[in-house]
Amino acid sequence: MFTEVLMPSDDAIREAAALIRAGQLVAFPTETVYGLGANALDPEAVARIFAAKNRPGDNPLIAHISDVSQLRPLIDCEPGPVARRMMDAFWPGPLTMIFPRAKLVPANLSAGLDTVSVRLPSHPVARALISAAGVPIAAPSANRSGRPSPTSAAHVFEDMKGRIPLILDGGDCAVGLESTVVDMTCDVPRILRPGGITAEMIAEVAGGSEVDPAVMRPLQEGEQPRSPGMKYRHYAPRGELTIVEGDPANVAEAISEMYDCALADGHHPLILALDGHLAAYGGRRAESLGGDEAEMAHRIFALLRDADALGADVLFSEAVEARGLGLAVMNRLGRAAAFHILKV
Ligand code: TXA
Ligand code: MG
Repeated sequence: MFTEVLMPSDDAIREAAALIRAGQLVAFPTETVYGLGANALDPEAVARIFAAKNRPGDNPLIAHISDVSQLRPLIDCEPGPVARRMMDAFWPGPLTMIFPRAKLVPANLSAGLDTVSVRLPSHPVARALISAAGVPIAAPSANRSGRPSPTSAAHVFEDMKGRIPLILDGGDCAVGLESTVVDMTCDVPRILRPGGITAEMIAEVAGGSEVDPAVMRPLQEGEQPRSPGMKYRHYAPRGELTIVEGDPANVAEAISEMYDCALADGHHPLILALDGHLAAYGGRRAESLGGDEAEMAHRIFALLRDADALGADVLFSEAVEARGLGLAVMNRLGRAAAFHILKV
């Protein structure tokens, strides 16, 4: 299949919407990462997403809407007052909420669960596409399963070339990490995946929030995750990644030592360090994570892809405090490292 890449002109959005209505797949930009879209109400179109990504069938998809009026038909109850406050505060934006699923929603979208996750993105191209298609759009991140999420059209092309007919190129994604996923079927909103809307921001609007314990550790043997996505190794670079946590001077010393050992053993090591710390690594090969959590969020997936392109087979990364946006960054970095975190 030929994969066309188009700038999101009115014509291109019309073409994309026609493909969606015809049950085909279109990759499109959102403020978080690129999505791989299909008609969320068409089970055959939804099945095509799983096939193109090679995604396990037990990992549910998010339904994307362009207007709050599209929410009620997808869910099995009136949204409660807390959900309404969260919609008012954070939609359109990088927040996904989980509700009981209405019968209208195909079972394969939710991977057989009796819930459905819904998000109203803020990216103008995403919203224009959803409204032109006239249906909610199912969209996971537009990477092949297990690869870092795509934050540019070039990343999508790398993973999806020949598998989908169209990519809308809207440039780089602003946030760079996927949306915050919150289970609204609990008494207190429960964060299953941290993102740009932080636990602290949700607590302020909702009067409280909980972070699922599986966010910052590997699942235990036999543990059933609340979000099936937690089961899978994600965002993985091809090289083996270790995160080193502690006082910056100790971290730089420990990473430098491990780097030198790896080099002596014939490996191609790479260091991921915060801007202010790069000088501490002397002439060793290092890439900048940026200066703060927001820059890290924006860069992390592209860095993990670059590491592959550079042929790095051993990676060492500095850590940031797992609070605010730092929780989302450390969740993605932690999972990329299979939670191999060294404290020094
Ligand atoms: O920012 C985003 O959310 C991007 C853009 C394209 O909107 N989409 C995205 O989708 O990241 P995906 O499929 O890569 O991640 C969705 C996550 C998965 O971990 C999945 O397990 C979880 O949300 N999820 C979806 N529906 C769920 C449900 N009903 N119950 C529990 N977890 C759910
Ligand atoms: Mg994904």
